[in-house]
Amino acid sequence: MPSAIVTGATGILGREIVFELSKNREQWQKVHALSRSKKEDYPPNVTHNYIDLTSSVDGMAKDLQNVRAEYIFFAAYLQKDSEQENWDANGAMLSNFLQALLKTDTIKGVKRILLVTGAKQYGVHLGAPKNPMTESDPWLTGEQWPPNFYYNQQTILHKFCKEHGKEWVVTYPNDVIGTATGNFMNLATATALYALVSKELEQYLVFPGSPDFYTRFDSFTSSKLHAEFCAWAALEPRAGNQAFNVVNGDVESWQNLWPKVASYFGLKVKPDQFRKRQVDEKAHITDMAGKLGLVQSDVQTSQSSSSPLAEQSPISSRAEELGLQGHGITQQSNIDQQIDLIKWSNRDDVKNAWLNVAEREGLDKTTFEKATWGFLGFVLGRNYDLVMSSSKARKIGWRGYRDTWESLEEVFNELERAKVLPKSE
Ligand SMILES: NC(=O)c1ccc[n+]([C@@H]2O[C@H](COP(=O)([O-])OP(=O)(O)OC[C@H]3O[C@@H](n4cnc5c(N)ncnc54)[C@H](OP(=O)(O)O)[C@@H]3O)[C@@H](O)[C@H]2O)c1
Repeated sequence: MPSAIVTGATGILGREIVFELSKNREQWQKVHALSRSKKEDYPPNVTHNYIDLTSSVDGMAKDLQNVRAEYIFFAAYLQKDSEQENWDANGAMLSNFLQALLKTDTIKGVKRILLVTGAKQYGVHLGAPKNPMTESDPWLTGEQWPPNFYYNQQTILHKFCKEHGKEWVVTYPNDVIGTATGNFMNLATATALYALVSKELEQYLVFPGSPDFYTRFDSFTSSKLHAEFCAWAALEPRAGNQAFNVVNGDVESWQNLWPKVASYFGLKVKPDQFRKRQVDEKAHITDMAGKLGLVQSDVQTSQSSSSPLAEQSPISSRAEELGLQGHGITQQSNIDQQIDLIKWSNRDDVKNAWLNVAEREGLDKTTFEKATWGFLGFVLGRNYDLVMSSSKARKIGWRGYRDTWESLEEVFNELERAKVLPKSE
């Protein structure tokens, strides 16, 4: 019966892999959950092992002495300040971990190694990708593109597996909907906190992101569905040595999701949420500038922000082949936030509103400052579609699907049960 090692066991994707495998005790006799911290209790077939993946190969080998398994799921992630640092740190964690498995001889029994990466594979953090994104799309390499740590991790994995006669699987999830505490990218918790504070301030629910993106399309990944995929792909013979997009299977848009978020938290979407804000903001800025004797460009109080992404959008690399030369989509993309969420989360009225909610409901006050406001701002602020094809996995038998709204609602419910959010009325 197979056994597993899961790194990143406390992360938004890793913890669901641990729980998914642990559900099927007939299938997965033993699951080793690895991370630096232990945040919750596990079922009996799961053993938690402390490990620091930034420590030396020898140090890790010592920690892994009694940790054996046939399937490895690598879902650890360290967020750094630059792409080069991400490349170095996340590449070294994977490489040293694999070397430690060699040192302990664990590797002899290993059948497959699954690496969790994401849609940055297609440069979605740099601007508009080619849609739909398919696994055969060329990697964005060359001097015009910044280092992409997923390419480094995949190259390390491919080489290691070739040298040691092992099989690999890589997953590309996008905009993950899941439960985790204190992690780097968590859109569900930040969305819920934004809604709760809007309610406390007796406001409408205003979409803070890009007016353009509100009516565009995104592909989301339920962390539970991703975990089901990992359990399936580890054992599916046809999945060996392949990379797969892993998304819910519906294509969603905030024009459909936002009113549901509002309704869940007992709020209403502001009917003219885009038009009115532009007018209000302009009036506010002009008023401020007049009062302070400043020209408008000196006024830094604007709630909005607009940040250009890479000089070229990823799709520009295929412009000639796709007949898109001169098309607007090849130009620089933007992150447009009509309410910049980092600025918003630092406002005194906002922070006080959260403290009122937390105090009244007996919640952890630090949840708000730990929320990933920059990440949510990025997710909602893009001005381009993100559509990921699931065809490759479906063609070899994957049948998994999740409704994106139901995934989000399920996570809100979980966060309420975990007392991260107050119980909804
Ligand atoms: N979150 C998203 O929306 C999203 C979307 C698409 C792709 N992805 C990708 O999915 C992958 C996994 O990310 P995630 O979002 O699931 O990560 P996450 O929620 O931030 O969790 C990171 C995990 O890595 C562990 N970790 C970090 N540093 C470690 C170290 N030095 N030693 C041991 N463990 C360490 C953490 O555990 P401890 O802190 O307890 O050690 C935690 O379990 C990444 O490649 C990410 O880019 C994420």
